[in-house]
Amino acid sequence: MSRLQQTRAWLALQQHYNEMHTLHMRELFEADPSRFEHFSLQLNDILYDYSKNRFTQQTLSLLLELARERGLPGWIERLFSGDKINHTESRAVLHTALRERADHAVMLDGVDIMPEIRAERERVKTLAENIRSRKWRGVGNQPITDVVNIGIGGSHLGPQMVTEALRPYALHDLKVHFLSNIDENHINDTLEFLNPKTTFFIIASKTFTTQDTMVNAETARQWFVNAVGNDEYIHRHFSAVTSNVQLARAFGIADENIFQIWDWVGGRYSLWSAIGLSIAIAIGPEHFEELLEGARDVDVHFRQTPLEKNIPVIMAMLGIWYNNFFNAQSSTVLPYDQHLHRFPSYLQQADMESNGKFVDRGGQDVGYSTGPVIFGDVGISSQHAFFQLLHQGTKLVPADILAPIYDYDCIVKHHRALMSNVFAQTEALMKGKTREEAYDELKTTGLSEEEIQALLPYKVFPGNRPTSTLLFETLNPKTLGSLIALYEHKIFVQGVIWDINSFDQWGVELGKQLASNILHELDSNEDVSTHDSSTNGLINYYKKCRPGSGH
Ligand code: F6P
Repeated sequence: MSRLQQTRAWLALQQHYNEMHTLHMRELFEADPSRFEHFSLQLNDILYDYSKNRFTQQTLSLLLELARERGLPGWIERLFSGDKINHTESRAVLHTALRERADHAVMLDGVDIMPEIRAERERVKTLAENIRSRKWRGVGNQPITDVVNIGIGGSHLGPQMVTEALRPYALHDLKVHFLSNIDENHINDTLEFLNPKTTFFIIASKTFTTQDTMVNAETARQWFVNAVGNDEYIHRHFSAVTSNVQLARAFGIADENIFQIWDWVGGRYSLWSAIGLSIAIAIGPEHFEELLEGARDVDVHFRQTPLEKNIPVIMAMLGIWYNNFFNAQSSTVLPYDQHLHRFPSYLQQADMESNGKFVDRGGQDVGYSTGPVIFGDVGISSQHAFFQLLHQGTKLVPADILAPIYDYDCIVKHHRALMSNVFAQTEALMKGKTREEAYDELKTTGLSEEEIQALLPYKVFPGNRPTSTLLFETLNPKTLGSLIALYEHKIFVQGVIWDINSFDQWGVELGKQLASNILHELDSNEDVSTHDSSTNGLINYYKKCRPGSGH
């Protein structure tokens, strides 16, 4: 048994689980009519209702005891104070410094890193303002009409998600596009209707070596040079955000267009840095500041609030409860806001690349379940896609539901209908429908007793399906910043409990390594035989069938 499973709190939780796991949430709500008041928290305009979860006060106390036994308060301090907690890469994890107030000091190896952060923030602001105000001119002295962010993973998902989420803040005559896939269809579709003379590229890559991004960047440069006739204007149309300044220069980016990020910013935690340049251009630097402010509020809350009232801690510990005791394999996120349609994809990387690990900080197999499979989609659409399984499937899938109290245009008819679904779904998932209730309902339809009995089993909803609801005033930059930071810290807390390093991502390396070997093998039409029979078979079939193979 692992150390985690031998902690006092874990053993007590196991015992407690055995005693209470069949308890229905209906009973919990009946026993405590103030359950909502007892188990909901407020942070600025965000209401977090976690009462529709399968726990009692005792469960919560034990979960928080586990957090203490795992040294969570100490880990929170280590995170904020720049300890090298990303031990496999010997790096600090300081994305929180990126949203720190400009007049605060954040020390790393004895040096205050805030002046550097501030300087880069200012540069981002200036470029964003210049492009937005049409002061920045490209070929033929024309203003920029389109910005293309070329990046992948953390250099793509966060900026794209935020830009989509904050569409109401965007300018109508300046479009921001996101290009990530190495599949030529993506670049072709993106550039098809763009004018090279009014297009500005951001090559967003921390390493500046990621194959997908670099291949796309080279093709984009070629497209631009072909259209313009020379490379004199590269400095008016290409910028880079990277920690690898040398490679950005070698690519031909002018120094004044290279924005820095640092090794202590993890890719999936980087939207707060200059990687957010596309966001600043899309929504304006002042709104980008508000995004940072919202995240900062959560940082303060996370660092200073007792565990009992600490929202990311409670989110995390409920996740542990389901993952490790109820053996839930997945977790779903359901934003009831069309503008948050990229939030589930963003969260997939944030969570699964952080906590999809089987080795603990001591280098041993963990021996227990770690990060769940994260999936989701916008609420209403997913109701008509996978909610059937949530309601009547055999798997326990804890759900997070996010919804704004009002939308920008607030067309009452639309928004009320949307919200009625939010409330209905959380209620339905919690309460379900008993056999008796289903029977009574069928009785009113005029069916015969025989017909009712035949249909009855299918009409029962077990309920007892957990949801946590995050209601917020409206999806503005500050609130969005807070929502993202809540999840970042939730992920961190779970990594602490599981004793894994949430900040490396070695698991993405093997595929990259093999792809680079295989790429060479694709140069010739010779059969390969160095792999297993399936991989050989697939490669050779592809070679045989591809155009120009001579077959
Ligand atoms: O997928 C692996 C990964 O390293 C991510 O962690 C990162 O966000 C992404 O690739 C992109 O990396 P880069 O910004 O260096 O191009």
